[in-house]
Order: sequence, then C-alpha cells, then structure tokens
Amino acid sequence: MNFKILRFETISSTNDEALKQAKLGADEGICVVADEQTKGRGRHGREWISPKGAGLYFSLVLRPQISPQRLPLLTLISAVAVFDTLHETFGITADIKWANDVLVNDKKICGILAETTETARGFSVILGIGINLKSSNFPPEIADIATSIEAESEIEPKLEILLPNLTKNLEFYYRKLHSTDGDVFTCNEWSKRSSFAFGKLVKVFMPNEIIIGTTRGIELDGALRLEKDSGETVKIYAGDVEKFRRL
Ligand code: BTN
Repeated sequence: MNFKILRFETISSTNDEALKQAKLGADEGICVVADEQTKGRGRHGREWISPKGAGLYFSLVLRPQISPQRLPLLTLISAVAVFDTLHETFGITADIKWANDVLVNDKKICGILAETTETARGFSVILGIGINLKSSNFPPEIADIATSIEAESEIEPKLEILLPNLTKNLEFYYRKLHSTDGDVFTCNEWSKRSSFAFGKLVKVFMPNEIIIGTTRGIELDGALRLEKDSGETVKIYAGDVEKFRRL
C-alpha cells in the first residue's frame, strides 16, 4: 500500500475528511492526520474529545477486496496493529476489549471507528484511530477511565515514530486479511492479545437488551461468542462489553 499522509492542524474530524477524500476518488493508503479535532466522533454517536497535541487523530482510506463476511475483521486488525505498535514502540502491554477498544490496566488508550461509503470507484472503508498521547488535559469525565502513552511509558510519544510503526503494522495485518486463511489468522491474532476472548464474565449492553455471559471466543466474522448462564450460546455483533463481577 502506498501511504500518503494529509496533515491538518485543526479539522472537524479526520474521518469526515477521509470520507470526503474517498468520495473524491482517493487511492487506498491516503491517511488524514490532525493535531486537533473540533468534532471528533466515537462509536454510537459519542464525542471523541480531541484536544490539540494530546492524541493521534488518524483516518485511513481503504478499498478492501475481501468478502463482505470479513469486513468486520478490519476493526479487529486495527486493534491488533495498535496493540503491536504500542508494544514495539513504547514497551506498553495492552489488552483488547471486544471489539476494538485498546486498554492498558483496564483504561482505554485507543478507540477505533470504522465507517463505510460508496464511491464512484467502489466501496471504501475509513478506519479512524484515536490514540491518547497525553492525559494531562483529560476532562474529568474520562480521567478515571482513560489513559495515555505518556502515563504508561517512559518513552516520549512522538508522532514521527508512532505513525510509521502504526502504518507498517496496519499494512501487515491488512495484507494478511486478504490471504486465503486471513480470517482464521486475524481471529487467532486478536484472541492472543485479548483477555476478553475466552472465559471472561462480561455484561454486554445492546440497543434493546443487556446480556451477561462468559466469552467463548470469536466467530470468523468477528462476532463475540457468549455462553449465558442457561448454557445457551449467543453471538454478539454489536454492543458495549464490560467486565462483570457477581456480587
Ligand atoms: C470509539 O468510540 O472508541 C472510537 C473513537 C474513534 C476516534 C477516532 S480519532 C480519529 C478518527 N476521527 C474521528 O472523528 N474519530 C476517529
């Protein structure tokens, strides 16, 4: 993949700019990076607080040639790539909470938002990645649940080092996903890095219900397998997962 970085000082959302670029016909590999986002988006319409210089705000244009069943795995490979980048670059050992929250000591260090769009050149996926670089300016509402590279590593979180390592890892896992057993490979790599993959008691918040169960791995389409107390196994395709403790 040919990475080309479009750098902005301030932007509404790097995902918005990448979606625009994709619509205009941008090649795969175009990355939008900003120092600050004024309307950073998280999952489920939440805000992604994006103060100047406190995070990596990054969006990558992809034009994947994979079966629709594999598309959800794009967010899993992003989490795996971030996990490896944090380890190789900053010596940080992270965890991945299904589907793609990257945590350190149970606090979120990275969030990933994949969005899709139809373009004249065909279907495109925008992978939006937000990594917290510094926590000094965290607003009070996230101070207890979020962490940053600065807080978890002795090594200064420099973008010039973080970015090339991240794009290298993203490219590696993206290529693998296109290979014959790419789905099996991706699910294995994700599971190796996630304490949530097997045997974790969790509570899942879905739009219309809350389910409690024990995780039993992931399906090849990225769904989380959950065994309920009744013994029934269900597949989770969307929802917020939380570690659960019985009283
Ligand atoms: C989440 O809710 O966990 C996903 C957060 C994704 C944030 C990133 S920051 C770069 C890109 N631009 C956005 O507006 N959102 C994503």
